[in-house]
Amino acid sequence: MNWPISGLMSGGLGERGDIVEPFMILLGEKGEVVVPPGRSPHLAACSYNERMPGNTFGTLFRISTWGESHGAGIGVTIDGCPSGIPILRDEIQLELDRRRPGQSRITTQRSEADQVEILSGVEDDRSTGTPIALLVRNSDARPEAYDSLREVYRPSHADYTYQAKYGLRSWKGGGRASARETIGRVAAGAIAQRILKDAAGVEIVAFVKRIQDIEAHVDLEGVTRDDVESNIVRCPDPLVAEAMIAHIESVRKNGDSVGGVIELVARKVPAGLGEPVFDRLEADLAKAMLSLPATKGFEIGSGFAGTLLTGSQHNDAYYMEGSRVRTRTNRSGGVQGGISSGEDIVLRVAFKPTATIAMTQETVTTTGDPTVLRAKGRHDPCVLPRAVPMVEAMAALVLVDHWLRQRAQRVQP
Ligand SMILES: Cc1cc2nc3c(=O)[nH]c(=O)nc-3n(C[C@H](O)[C@H](O)[C@H](O)COP(=O)(O)O)c2cc1C
Repeated sequence: MNWPISGLMSGGLGERGDIVEPFMILLGEKGEVVVPPGRSPHLAACSYNERMPGNTFGTLFRISTWGESHGAGIGVTIDGCPSGIPILRDEIQLELDRRRPGQSRITTQRSEADQVEILSGVEDDRSTGTPIALLVRNSDARPEAYDSLREVYRPSHADYTYQAKYGLRSWKGGGRASARETIGRVAAGAIAQRILKDAAGVEIVAFVKRIQDIEAHVDLEGVTRDDVESNIVRCPDPLVAEAMIAHIESVRKNGDSVGGVIELVARKVPAGLGEPVFDRLEADLAKAMLSLPATKGFEIGSGFAGTLLTGSQHNDAYYMEGSRVRTRTNRSGGVQGGISSGEDIVLRVAFKPTATIAMTQETVTTTGDPTVLRAKGRHDPCVLPRAVPMVEAMAALVLVDHWLRQRAQRVQP
C-alpha cells in the first residue's frame, strides 16, 4: 500500500491502553493520522510517556530516583544492571560520604549520616540481574526552618517554577529540587564505576577547578582521587585549595555564596561508545551534567575557548602508537562524531552560586505581593565540593549505559 506520508512520529498505545514498543504514526497529506494495518487506533506519543515525568535516566543501565529533601527518605531503582557484578555496600557508602552534608566547615551543616540500605537485587555481594533498590533515610530534616519560605519565592531557586508547573510545591527544604535527590545518582554511579573499572579499567576523576575567579591548574593525566580528597574543597592543587577555602569562608560570613567550575577526566574509556545522532556521547554527557541542580554550563574538550582558534590550530593530529590510533592533542575532549575516540574524555561543568543566601533580597509572595527575604536554614555557601562525586557519578552512568549499548550491537571484534 502506498501511504500518503507527509510526516512521521513514533510511539503508541496497545489495544488495552498498554504501552507498546515505539512505532511509526503516519500523517497523511492533510495532517490526518493514518493508522498502520494491525495497529491500535489509540495513538499517542506514549514512548514518551515513561520519560515524561523525567525521573528516569539511561537506556540499558536505567536509573529512577525518588524521594524529597524532607520526606522519609531518598533512593534509586536501578534496572538493567548485569548479573554477577560485585556490589559492596561499603563501596557505595564511600561515594555517599563524599556527597553527604555536614562533611566540613564549608558545606551545609545539615547533619545526615546518609547510610545506604540495599533493599533488592543483590545477594552475596553480587547483583542478581533484577532491579536494585537503594534507600537512604532522612534523619535531620527540620521543616520548621523553612516556615518563612512557605509564602515566599526564593530568588533563583525552584520555588516559583515548581509552583507554576505543579500548582503546589514542597516548601519544606526544596522537595525534589534539593540536592538530596542526587543521593540516588551517586549510589547508582558507584555501581556504574565498578562495572567500568572491572570491564575496561576506566578511571573517572573530577575536581574543583575554579571557585569564582580562583583557578587551579591540574595535570589531567596524573590527577588521582587521593589528590582530590586531600582537602575539603576537593581541589588537587593544595595552595589554590587553601585560597578557595578561605574565600568560601569569607563569603559565607557575609551571608553570601559563590559558584565555580568542576572539571572531569575519564581515562581508558574504550573507543566506539556513543550513538549518533541524538545520543551522541557528548550530548548525553551534557544532559547528564545539566540535569544536576545548580548547573549553568557544560563544555567538552576545547569548549568555548576552541572558537578562538583556527582549524589548523584546533585539529587533533593523528599518529600511531603501536597498533592504536591516537591524537597528539585532545581538543576534541575524547569524543569525535559523538563517539569516544579512546583519548581521555575531558569535560567541565559550571555551577552557579547557591541561591539561598542570608542577605536581604527583593522577591514576591505566593500571592504576588512584593517583599524582601533574608533566608534562614542550613545551606551550602558553595555547592562545588559536594558536587564532585555527583559529576563523577553522572559521567559513569552515561559511560556504562553506552558501554552496554555498544556490547549489544557490535559482536565482531
Ligand atoms: C551539592 C549541591 C548542594 C546544594 N545545596 C543548596 C543549598 O544548600 N541551598 C540552595 O538554595 N541550593 C542548593 N543547591 C542548589 C539547588 O538544588 C538548586 O539550585 C535549585 O534547585 C534551583 O535549581 P537550578 O539552580 O538548577 O535552577 C545545591 C546544589 C548542589 C549540586
